[in-house]
Amino acid sequence: MKGKIWVVGIGPGSPEYLTQKAIKAIEGSDIVAGYDLCLNAVRDLTHDKTIIEMTWSNRNERLDHITREVTSGKNCSILRSGDPNFSGSSGIEDIYDRFPDAEIISGISSVQIAAAKSKLAWGEIVLLTFHVSEDLEKKKQNLLDSVRGGLIVLLLSESRFMPKDVAKFLLSSSIDDKMPITVYENLTLENERVFHGNLKELTGKTFTYLSVVVIGK
Ligand SMILES: C[S@@+](CC[C@H](N)C(=O)[O-])C[C@H]1O[C@@H](n2cnc3c(N)ncnc32)[C@H](O)[C@@H]1O
Repeated sequence: MKGKIWVVGIGPGSPEYLTQKAIKAIEGSDIVAGYDLCLNAVRDLTHDKTIIEMTWSNRNERLDHITREVTSGKNCSILRSGDPNFSGSSGIEDIYDRFPDAEIISGISSVQIAAAKSKLAWGEIVLLTFHVSEDLEKKKQNLLDSVRGGLIVLLLSESRFMPKDVAKFLLSSSIDDKMPITVYENLTLENERVFHGNLKELTGKTFTYLSVVVIGK
């Protein structure tokens, strides 16, 4: 490939969490590509860039386009939320396969922000993501085993398993309805919201896709 390609972790959404490395990569790019949450976080840096907005459905076509542009000598940043290597259900692996020379710029993950807010040390946390392509049953079993074992769980919810589904699942598995649970929604964004209560109080409450859940503290 003639151009340079970066896969850039842009943090949880607020520009305050962009690293200097991320800023440099974006500044050095002719093209900046990503989902709208990511593009919004770097808006101030991209006035003179070609923007490629990606969606779940146009993703492959956009990556084909980026391949052609980079081959013709353009530099491109592909943005990913949080840290690029953590829990991307839309396949970081195929970006790495397509662009083996890509430089990966680590970012601050949403789970780091949630752990900091809940004052959790990594050594005491079980980290689970439901952003997986496979069936969720195995993940649910991991969740249950961890909660039954008295461990603190930090999990990324997903549209098939939102915070209210987490509560419903744990209650239906006979976990104490007083079990503490926190939901961090839209972390670092203007509409950030925190729910802190117990499983019973969480029942039926709705949150957006951008939610991180802490169980057991
Ligand atoms: C595809 S995963 C990507 C995770 C990302 N790579 C990271 O390190 O945070 C998307 C999930 O991350 C979590 N997430 C990402 N940004 C968030 C934010 N600002 N607030 C709360 N949760 C967030 C949510 O659970 C969301 O469903």
